[in-house]
Amino acid sequence: MDNKSLLIRGGTVVSDSCASQIDLYVQSGRILAQGSPGSFDREHFTEVYDASGMFILPGLIDPHVHFDSPFMGSKTLHDFQTGSIAAAYGGITTVISFSTQGKGESIIENIENTNRIAEKQSLIDWGIHGIVLDAKEDTLSEIENLINSGYPTYKCFTTYRHSDRMVEDVDILSLLKVTARNNAMLMVHCENDAILEHNLKKVLSESNFESNLWINHAKSRPASAENVAIARIIDLMKEEVAPVYIVHTSTRESMGIIQDAINIGLPIHCETCTHYLVLTEDQLIGENGYQFICSPPLRKKEDNDALWLAVTNGPLEVVSSDDAGVPTVDRIKLGEGRFDKVPNGMPGIEPRFAVLYSQGVVKGRINLPRLVALTSTNPAKLFGLFPQKGHLGVGADADIVIFDPNSEGRISASTHHMNTDFSPFEGMNTTGNIRSVLCRGEFIIREGELIGTPGYGKLIRRRIDRTWLKRN
Ligand code: URP
Ligand code: ZN
Ligand code: ZN
Repeated sequence: MDNKSLLIRGGTVVSDSCASQIDLYVQSGRILAQGSPGSFDREHFTEVYDASGMFILPGLIDPHVHFDSPFMGSKTLHDFQTGSIAAAYGGITTVISFSTQGKGESIIENIENTNRIAEKQSLIDWGIHGIVLDAKEDTLSEIENLINSGYPTYKCFTTYRHSDRMVEDVDILSLLKVTARNNAMLMVHCENDAILEHNLKKVLSESNFESNLWINHAKSRPASAENVAIARIIDLMKEEVAPVYIVHTSTRESMGIIQDAINIGLPIHCETCTHYLVLTEDQLIGENGYQFICSPPLRKKEDNDALWLAVTNGPLEVVSSDDAGVPTVDRIKLGEGRFDKVPNGMPGIEPRFAVLYSQGVVKGRINLPRLVALTSTNPAKLFGLFPQKGHLGVGADADIVIFDPNSEGRISASTHHMNTDFSPFEGMNTTGNIRSVLCRGEFIIREGELIGTPGYGKLIRRRIDRTWLKRN
């Protein structure tokens, strides 16, 4: 690392708890010092960046993306290059993506292969979660190795039996045991497979059934399936107490179920995703409804409202993108006009902050420090990136977003930088603009222009320290 130094002056630094006028001294990829406005001598620096009128945020972290990920016969749109470019434009300086080994394959080998690709492609830092498909002896000992090599989080599914992804309760209990013993965190996709299968059959056999009524996707995956699955995980946690993170929660009722579990002391955490806050199942009505197929499905306005309350008051601690868009052509070809055959998942890595700022902060639903908590500090603490990332304190990586709150925009697939012709948030008006982004002290976006290079990003080996959390 060379010795150049950077002063970011005149801006308002926002943390997860407050906003203050602070100048930042950046050197060797880190925050070397903070000072009151004007306290550093400009002459001393290689570069001075005038951030007057700007908010300065810690680099955003998206802990739930699927890069290069095969699913339902297709593959996600973003690889580490296209995905990290879109991420950078969205102020994200670290992603955690999933490795997707097949049944019987080694999780570690798969992660190593993924890292080899990411090393060449990624413009930003990354971590990897494993995906666990069984809990055989071999898998369990592999998980222990994995955790101790810097991959302390892994996901399992309570559904997708048809794609060989579902993990049975008995295996979840074994996973919880390993998780507790190794200071890790189990991520769970909660939808009860039996309810989904039952409803799918019911919907398919209805006399007025029309396969291309995409709203059938939401009908066949009701909120009850998600609620029951979350409640079941909580029951299992009572047998084997271990940290659990419920991914992509989408229902109003789940907020109460999870809060009750927190109230009795269980180490349960949850996220929602941008789309569950601002879109409803009505998007599935209409010809291009297939583009909005994701699981769990988009819900109702009451669910949006409950989730907004929960990002402010808890239990939600993170908003991720669950970026998992698949090519439109695959949605059409593999879907064969059948709602249940369309590969699931939507793109959303780039507009996450723009949507949350505009719909959350500008509309008075959450304040900016809370948004920083949801998109940077909390994911850093929960997923073992803190104190290296997730804040702008002295010693932290100089992952920095310079955000101009005084501009207006509109989201469109024709102008975004995601590798797709579709945006779930098409036409949404936005306030504010990410002007510049630094990852470990280097500009990757400067005044709206991409200057980062593939291969700059680094693998971050993570270690969870729950003493950073408000509850452990
Ligand atoms: O529909 C979704 N969410 N696709 C991505 C895979 C997952 O379950 O997160
Ligand atoms: Zn999932
Ligand atoms: Zn996902």
